[in-house]
Amino acid sequence: MITTSSVYKFNKMRPTKTLSPVHPRIDDCECTPSVQHLFLRHYLLQRPMFFIRWIYAALYSLYLLFVLRAPTDRDIVDFIENTTMAMLIRPATDDKSGEYKLTVNDCKLRASGGYKLKNMSLGYKKGKSGAYILYFTRNGVEVDDRSQIFSTIYFYHTHSMHTKSHLFSNSLVRHIVDNDIKTLKESSYTSIALHNELLHSSLSVFQFEGNVSKYLGYGVAGIRESLVEESRNMSVLEGHQVMHRSNPHEKDSFVGKLYRSRLALQGAMKRHEIDPKLLDALFNHTIVHSVDHVSNSEWSFLRFSLHPWAEDCNIYQAFNTSMFRILIVQPNVNPLAPNTIRSIKKPFYQDLYRDLKKIDSHWADVVTASVMY
Ligand SMILES: *[C@@H]1O[C@H](CO)[C@@H](O)[C@H](O)[C@H]1NC(C)=O
Ligand SMILES: *[C@@H]1O[C@H](CO)[C@@H](O)[C@H](O)[C@H]1NC(C)=O
Ligand SMILES: *[C@@H]1O[C@H](CO)[C@@H](O)[C@H](O)[C@H]1NC(C)=O
Ligand SMILES: *[C@@H]1O[C@H](CO)[C@@H](O)[C@H](O)[C@H]1NC(C)=O
Ligand SMILES: *[C@@H]1O[C@H](CO)[C@@H](O)[C@H](O)[C@H]1NC(C)=O
Ligand SMILES: *[C@@H]1O[C@H](CO)[C@@H](O)[C@H](O)[C@H]1NC(C)=O
Repeated sequence: MITTSSVYKFNKMRPTKTLSPVHPRIDDCECTPSVQHLFLRHYLLQRPMFFIRWIYAALYSLYLLFVLRAPTDRDIVDFIENTTMAMLIRPATDDKSGEYKLTVNDCKLRASGGYKLKNMSLGYKKGKSGAYILYFTRNGVEVDDRSQIFSTIYFYHTHSMHTKSHLFSNSLVRHIVDNDIKTLKESSYTSIALHNELLHSSLSVFQFEGNVSKYLGYGVAGIRESLVEESRNMSVLEGHQVMHRSNPHEKDSFVGKLYRSRLALQGAMKRHEIDPKLLDALFNHTIVHSVDHVSNSEWSFLRFSLHPWAEDCNIYQAFNTSMFRILIVQPNVNPLAPNTIRSIKKPFYQDLYRDLKKIDSHWADVVTASVMY
């Protein structure tokens, strides 16, 4: 028998609008009517931060010119083990040897000057005496220069791997707005407007078929169109370690902590009745994105050019690299509206914050509720 109250319950449980699936599309960032208020919020609160911070970035980059040093084998290995690049590390054939490899095929990225990064392969060994590079090839050609190796990996990380953590954000935000999910309101801030700026405005740090912003006075080597093209292929992550592998001995490795953070998010979502289908999109949008930025920005003392094919890193290029790291890679949020989960006094985010603190308190403090920078 259908009573009025059960009909009421049924209606209440039904989403108000049909749920749109969450897709990985970085270029779905137009300012459509339902997200206009988010663009306005971004223009008022987040965008000015890039201009304010520019002055600090320029002064600090000048200082860094005197202290930067060339990357070593240890830096290269530390970098890939402590960023999302770690998802691509595999043991070399016999894994007792302490040898590891990282291979990328079918890459679509292009850099200014007509250069293409098609593939790369790195082998390294870790032992008691430290870590060292066994080989590095790029487009099938062996590269020996440590600065170029670091630069190539950095280029791939910033333009391809890290970008993957942004991919679900537009669609997730539209989903939150269209379905008016109040618990996740803070997770709708800035992301779409930021992507719009990066892909379509003259304020972008990326090159638009060879032109960088004239306003910022610096820019990365990657071509925007190639970044979008590259972002359409997620297959490099198939079988990656965060979802499928949790090695108890590597509990505190970057991937181990990501794995545990994902479980923490899953638990918090369950307790606060958030649709579990949003798990991976929300995971990438909050935790993966923030900690990847913070971890990347720890390599601020290395001298290398942002252009992977630069023969040597001159003063101008070293300055560009530092500007990019301080302004774009280091977390840059408005201190009055930081949107970190720590600062949001709402049960879901506080609950998640508490659980992340048990995994890594530094991570917990920097995680933002959405892609903010
Ligand atoms: C990078 O990760 C390794 C282990 O995965 C760790 O030993 C090392 O200290 C880390 N380096 C930095 C700079 O975080
Ligand atoms: C890598 O790219 C180069 C240049 O296009 C090509 O000759 C080589 O076969 C590629 N290697 C792999 C493993 O795909
Ligand atoms: C983002 O989420 C997808 C699943 O939806 C996952 O396969 C992918 O590994 C995540 N990306 C990163 C960088 O963690
Ligand atoms: C790049 O800049 C040059 C010179 O300022 C200009 O002529 C050209 O049209 C620009 N290209 C694009 C794709 O905007
Ligand atoms: C450094 O910045 C300038 C100004 O935007 C740009 O023209 C140049 O290509 C950049 N150099 C590198 C190596 O990215
Ligand atoms: C995606 O990349 C993989 C290699 O990482 C390649 O085998 C596959 O063909 C690519 N797919 C498309 C549609 O380009």
